Amino acid sequence: MTANHHILLRALRCQPTERAPAWIMRQAGRYLPEYRALRRRAGDFLTLCKTPELAVEATLQPLRRFPLDAAIIFSDILTIPDAMGLGLRMEEGEGPRFAKPLRSDAGIRALRAPDPERGLRYVLDAVQLARRELNGSVPLIGFAGSPWTLAVYMVEGAGGGEFARSLKFAREQPQSMRRLLRLLAESVAEYLNAQIAHGAEVVMLFDTWGGLLGGDYEKFSLDHIAAVINSLDRTVPVIVFAKDAGAHLESIAACGCDAIGVDAGTCLADARRRVGGRIALQGNLAPEILLRNNAAELESAVRAILDSHPAPGHIFNLGHGILPATNPEMVQKMLDAVRCHPTLAHPPTPC
Ligand code: CP3
Repeated sequence: MTANHHILLRALRCQPTERAPAWIMRQAGRYLPEYRALRRRAGDFLTLCKTPELAVEATLQPLRRFPLDAAIIFSDILTIPDAMGLGLRMEEGEGPRFAKPLRSDAGIRALRAPDPERGLRYVLDAVQLARRELNGSVPLIGFAGSPWTLAVYMVEGAGGGEFARSLKFAREQPQSMRRLLRLLAESVAEYLNAQIAHGAEVVMLFDTWGGLLGGDYEKFSLDHIAAVINSLDRTVPVIVFAKDAGAHLESIAACGCDAIGVDAGTCLADARRRVGGRIALQGNLAPEILLRNNAAELESAVRAILDSHPAPGHIFNLGHGILPATNPEMVQKMLDAVRCHPTLAHPPTPC
């Protein structure tokens, strides 16, 4: 078992740490040449996800290179809609696509929550194997998409657009959308509980598209995130990644989560004032800064973030997933900059 005093787990409980722990959203991925080689070996992305030995290899690759304070299981948020039978395809350069998108109330009524022990067995096997391989070195994070973010992909049938169809569906057929969100909340809770039972030591909900909802954010996204968290086996901390939802930090802090993952547009000092002292904050370097290949600029951006939140209760991360064009050397420099920045007892500096 990972020691309970691991730096990530302490920071998630807002306990004192000697420095901010650090990991990277999408830390296993296309910016690493060894990941690209592994995906070629697997043939395609979904086979990589569905073959536990290969998924575990992808999980461990970034940890062999970098001093990261967490592992995140290699998988995708779209495993649930795939297990519901929507026919997921992941074409290179195109993003995800569903053969059978949801377009009607009848389509929603026909869906069932997948039994994770059967339909998502490959993820649970990967979680169990990854825990064994990590052997207590760093905690393993399990994850799922938020009900709203999954619903967006299921209704649109593809990523990358403006998501007009799902917003229209939510506003014109709110009852059907709520039916879908309730089913997804049940599915996500069962899936995360199964990941916890198989060894996940932290779980994270990715609410990538909640920010689209504006004034309807609580109704269509946050309420269903709260329902998921309420049904979780609460032996492990829960992180909610809330992209473009900076306006709702107070209500997110009250949804039952232990930590909020904030995007690069949110000032950490400000966020801390707004959420109080009991919720950890994770983030929030803009991933684009790594693309500039300017070490001095990167280091000062890292310092500015760490100074804006002198801890306790901060986990360093990016504000969104690392971009495929990132040079891995810049990742090393970023993590070195975090590691040599001790937690200082000074007041937060405004962003
Ligand atoms: O963080 C990690 O290292 C774990 C793995 C992980 C992946 N996807 C692997 C992946 C995680 C945590 C995700 C989450 C995910 N997936 C989100 C939420 C986080 C976010 O970035 O907002 C979303 C919205 C998805 C859906 C998804 N999966 C999209 C839109 C795409 C295509 C676009 C893209 O970024 O490539 C994917 C594919 C995907 N998921 C890849 C990886 C490594 C790239 C596939 C490939 O290798 O070609």
